[in-house]
Amino acid sequence: MDSTIKRGRLVTLEGGEGSGKSTQVVHLARFLREQGIETVITREPGGVPFSERLRELILQEPPSSAKTEFLMFAAARTEHIAGLIQPALMDGRWVVCDRYIDSTRVYQGVLGGIDAALIKATETYTVAPFLPDLTFLLDVNPKLGLERAKARGELSRYDAADEDDHAKVRKGFLDIAASEPGRCVVIDGQEREMEIAGQIAQIVKRRFL
Ligand code: TYD
Repeated sequence: MDSTIKRGRLVTLEGGEGSGKSTQVVHLARFLREQGIETVITREPGGVPFSERLRELILQEPPSSAKTEFLMFAAARTEHIAGLIQPALMDGRWVVCDRYIDSTRVYQGVLGGIDAALIKATETYTVAPFLPDLTFLLDVNPKLGLERAKARGELSRYDAADEDDHAKVRKGFLDIAASEPGRCVVIDGQEREMEIAGQIAQIVKRRFL
């Protein structure tokens, strides 16, 4: 590889159901491209064909064991990094990813009960050094998030979870953001769409451009 090529940045968006992540991924990528930065949009689980197949399996026919589920998300991520994230970043492109390691920490860790130390060790084994350079947490009241998700007809299996679980998910993300303030920025997901897009663009600009 040409050693003069600067590694691209990995920006992830996280949040609960209906937090508006997927919309903001598109706005952020458009902003970056306007700055002349080659940008790839992707998502988890998924991003490459093998991981998209795992996604279908996990979301449509969830395994019975939380351990299996954790390993499937880890496998999907490992393939995603090898097939898309690593090559793009090494090629100087930026990657904007809808969900990443923090979703595992929250859904499999906080909700699923997978040990935090095991999650951390798996991140070191499978993800490092492709940790996010910046993570936006779109924080919404779970009630509003659920209403939005329902309105779009996009209910994932976690929507069946009770209010208590949704509150745990929200707190899980906020706790991560508080413990890694250098990487994570909490955004009020209840603001208007373009207002949020503007905030995200400004933060990226200030930090990297
Ligand atoms: P998706 O339809 O993409 O949900 P959303 O639109 O809310 O992003 O489904 C992805 C689901 O997978 C979501 O409920 C969160 C879950 N998930 C995990 O449990 N662990 C993970 O590591 C990832 C990436 C996602």
